[in-house]
Amino acid sequence: MRRLLLAAPFTLLATPAHASTGEAVNPWVALAYLVSGVFFILALRGLSSPATSRTGNRFGMIGMLIAVVTTLVTHVPTSDLSDYEVISVFGLGEILIAIALGAIIGITIARRIAMTAMPELVAAFHSLVGLAAVLVGWAAYLNPGAFGLLVGDSIGTVSKVEMGLGIAIGAITFSGSVIAFAKLSGRMSGSPILLPARHVINLGTLAAIIVLTALFAMAGSSETMPLIVALTVLAFLIGFLLIIPIGGADMPVVVSMLNSYSGWAAAAMGFTLGNTAMIITGALVGSSGAILSYIMCRAMNRSFLSVIAGGFGADAGAGGGEAKEQRPYKQGSAADAAFMLEQAEKVIIIPGYGMAVAQAQHALREMADILEEKGVEVKYAIHPVAGRMPGHMNVLLAEAQVPYENVFELEDINSEFAQADVAFIIGANDVVNPAAKTDKSSPIYGMPVFDVDKAKQVFFIKRSMGGVGYAGVDNDVFYMDQTMMLLADAKKMVEEIVKALD
Ligand code: TAP
Repeated sequence: MRRLLLAAPFTLLATPAHASTGEAVNPWVALAYLVSGVFFILALRGLSSPATSRTGNRFGMIGMLIAVVTTLVTHVPTSDLSDYEVISVFGLGEILIAIALGAIIGITIARRIAMTAMPELVAAFHSLVGLAAVLVGWAAYLNPGAFGLLVGDSIGTVSKVEMGLGIAIGAITFSGSVIAFAKLSGRMSGSPILLPARHVINLGTLAAIIVLTALFAMAGSSETMPLIVALTVLAFLIGFLLIIPIGGADMPVVVSMLNSYSGWAAAAMGFTLGNTAMIITGALVGSSGAILSYIMCRAMNRSFLSVIAGGFGADAGAGGGEAKEQRPYKQGSAADAAFMLEQAEKVIIIPGYGMAVAQAQHALREMADILEEKGVEVKYAIHPVAGRMPGHMNVLLAEAQVPYENVFELEDINSEFAQADVAFIIGANDVVNPAAKTDKSSPIYGMPVFDVDKAKQVFFIKRSMGGVGYAGVDNDVFYMDQTMMLLADAKKMVEEIVKALD
């Protein structure tokens, strides 16, 4: 939804109703855009914690409403067209119809989308932001007078640089996001596709885009068309080439990185259009996306460059389920688990993607409540990349009204496993896999993981021994002496434990 909101000003500003006179911006307009910028900053602040995220979302909506209404009232031609030295393509009626259509599509998608499909939806929305930036750039190029970009008879050099950068970043965002969407939604294999000499091809293409942008900025009016066409085509191509070698396990970082790109594309277009709201919003999205990418890389113990270079998970066949040697393991029932949980003093719950799939969070909360009534200390341990999107587990636990004070981040709780009687793993896998610490050949090597092996007992809920986690690798925790496998759908298993506890 946030991406749809952020895409809105593009649609509005794409109408070439920008004042071409170059007159100073109305101070009320500048103030309104500033206020909307403050709301966006408050939104980001609110979104940084589950407790304030709803308020943060509302701030974002208010900020976008102010930006959209300000843009509409200052750019839509009234009956007195003499006020505007612009060409009116769309009037208010068409714009309102476009907003209504977009709102209906957005609300329908937001209501229907499963939480597990959120990352691919975000990727799809990023592609729209990228495409919008390309279209705005092209609209400005084809109709520079209406956008106030003419210096004499031709487009100003600085405007051409901004336009070239906006189009290039937008096109990279578009094609990269389409590939990320295809990979995340399973329409394309999540495994890295490694072209021979891909680094040389990628660096060469990026260099060509930079050279073309410079040539485009310096060229005379009659020579610019082939340059901007080549620039656009190469940028679409490099977006595609940059994302195909990246494996599924690195996709969250890629989506966040594309989020950042879409922000920079918006900021570049904001400069072209002389629109401060777009510059502020673009810079906020660009920098917050870059910071999130950095935080996620740190959570996986991977360098940003190694993510961009791609190839992670090529050998493991990320997301695949390869045949494994049979090793002995202990299987238990809900009654066994309930009996031991009642005896425990301290239980740490580690939720993962499987809890989201099974929608087991409400049953889990019920189980934790019963245990707490019986005097057991219950804590939840959240890995930064558990599930399939940043904050995935926090959102689900908040939905089940798990108290925030019982929810802990990896670095705050990892040392407590040594004092825990039970590590209760529900639908998590990669985030508790000790291979990340010990096996240099593992595709998840280096990712910080929970030290569940230090707990006295480990309960591991998953549906079968054959199923693997996102990275597609086996997990030694299944076969440890203190591990009891609880093989069933997570919701069903927890509901049975709840019954057995009553
Ligand atoms: P995973 O390693 O993906 O493991 C999920 C586990 O849930 C599997 O063991 C699966 O085994 C089990 N499962 C699936 N459906 C279930 C159900 N209905 N009931 C019970 N169990 C079920 O999950 P994780 O530990 O949360 O790790 C996340 C992984 O996803 C990391 O590798 C991360 O890099 C990657 N990733 C993260 C994100 C973000 S931003 N969070 C985005 C994309 C990818 P069975 O099939 O046998 O049931």
